[in-house]
Amino acid sequence: MTRYFAIVPAAGSGRRMGAERPKQYLDLCGKPLLWHALTALAGVTRIHTVFVVLSPEDDWWGRFDWSGFGSRLQVLRVGGETRAQSVGNALRSIFAQVAAEDWMLVHDAARACLSVAQVEALIDALTDDPVGGLLAQPVADTLKRADKAARVVETVTRDALWQAQTPQMFRHGLLSRALAQCPGVTDEAGAVEALGLAPRLVAAEAPNFKVTYPQDLALAELILQARSKS
Ligand code: C5P
Repeated sequence: MTRYFAIVPAAGSGRRMGAERPKQYLDLCGKPLLWHALTALAGVTRIHTVFVVLSPEDDWWGRFDWSGFGSRLQVLRVGGETRAQSVGNALRSIFAQVAAEDWMLVHDAARACLSVAQVEALIDALTDDPVGGLLAQPVADTLKRADKAARVVETVTRDALWQAQTPQMFRHGLLSRALAQCPGVTDEAGAVEALGLAPRLVAAEAPNFKVTYPQDLALAELILQARSKS
């Protein structure tokens, strides 16, 4: 039977946040930012194991209590220079534990507002898909291309444009091959596309933005607080 695994790359430095610690460990509702994404993925009973990918030099992980996740959470200290390398290293290090057809749900540590229902919907939409796919959102704003002086060079039509989010869900064999052949990508779907395949876009139904700038933390906090009350 095909199984589902989650991989959470959390080996970035989060420089754009300008904080005193890596972004994934910033406080959000009394927990490290990373805890929220892990909680959503671990809340999906179909997901066998959640693998979190840390930098080998990470000295923050051990300062927090992760025991509530039990054995369904496994730490891989194999983070690389880029996100694609972190994910590629993780896929190689779990090779013996998974089958080539098993589904991997790769999710950014910094997308803290992911809900269990959203992951369930993604799995339901893609489980019989020959390629796999990703959560995404149709672009709502008009887009401008700018020059170095922040002056508009052109307006880009937003028709048929989507913003890629995570989780991105592909089978272990296909994703390993894709990332090995195309290591310069910024998301897993980009590597799969480079093989000539067309990942499916699954519309995100709830906020799932990546906490990137300081102001994003307050918004994420409001969303999580509202959800915990409903
Ligand atoms: O920097 P950005 O927010 O785009 O990173 C997306 C995700 O990839 C984050 O969860 C980050 O920790 C992770 N990452 C990683 N290894 C890197 C760079 C980023 O695991 N070398």
